[in-house]
Amino acid sequence: MSGGSEERGPLRLPRTRRYTLYVISIGVFATGALWLIYHYFMGKEGPFGIQKHPLEVVWLQTHGIISAWALWMFGVLWPIHVLRGWNMRWRRWSGGAVTAAIFLLGVTGLGLYYIESREIREMNSIVHWVIGLIVLVLFFIHWLSKSTPHRDKGPYPWPWFRKRHPVGGEKA
Ligand code: HEM
Ligand code: HEM
Repeated sequence: MSGGSEERGPLRLPRTRRYTLYVISIGVFATGALWLIYHYFMGKEGPFGIQKHPLEVVWLQTHGIISAWALWMFGVLWPIHVLRGWNMRWRRWSGGAVTAAIFLLGVTGLGLYYIESREIREMNSIVHWVIGLIVLVLFFIHWLSKSTPHRDKGPYPWPWFRKRHPVGGEKA
């Protein structure tokens, strides 16, 4: 049954969870991208300099709200998708890259709330949205990846860990 659904177990996301993930991901990406468009291209020259488009703040608020939901979704995936996939050495590079990017988005997202220095906040903002744009590409690479589990190496990569947690008939 190599590669069969039984063996794959819960790594394959159940349909509801998969759709919830898609909706949240599209939401967080779209609102971030819309903020970028409205912030950089939709401002109008007013009597007191550039005037923000009224929708700019709406996209930011919506983004902030959905981003909390996105981190919750990431927590839902962590134990049964991320850790299990990682330990099976299955789509490890692409999944690891998406995971690292989400982690950085979370950290720089908090930076946007709490950094007081104008210059550092500005830099943090650019790092945040550049990673935000890159994560879409990483996600597609992960999604379309054809990598198969490296069963020959066992589900756990570290020999000392495999000794402590023997699986599939491996002798401790
Ligand atoms: C180290 C981290 C990760 C690893 C090792 C990993 C591994 C995998 C594997 C092995 C599959 C194929 C499952 C199958 O076809 O049965 C998969 C599919 C998928 N992964 Fe990941 N993943 C990781 C992180 C993530 C993250 C953070 C997300 C989302 C934010 C994600 C979203 C998905 C999606 C949407 C699919 C396609 C699901 C499907 O077709 O049912 N993965 N991943
Ligand atoms: C899980 C992923 C993400 C989290 C946790 C997150 C979190 C946040 C937070 C907390 C803010 C600050 C909101 C506020 O000031 O009210 C923010 C702003 C922003 N995010 Fe994200 N975000 C994520 C993904 C993305 C993505 C994928 C993009 C790319 C399109 C993006 C682009 C932006 C932009 C452009 C801003 C406004 C920057 C600024 O105010 O200078 N974010 N994000």
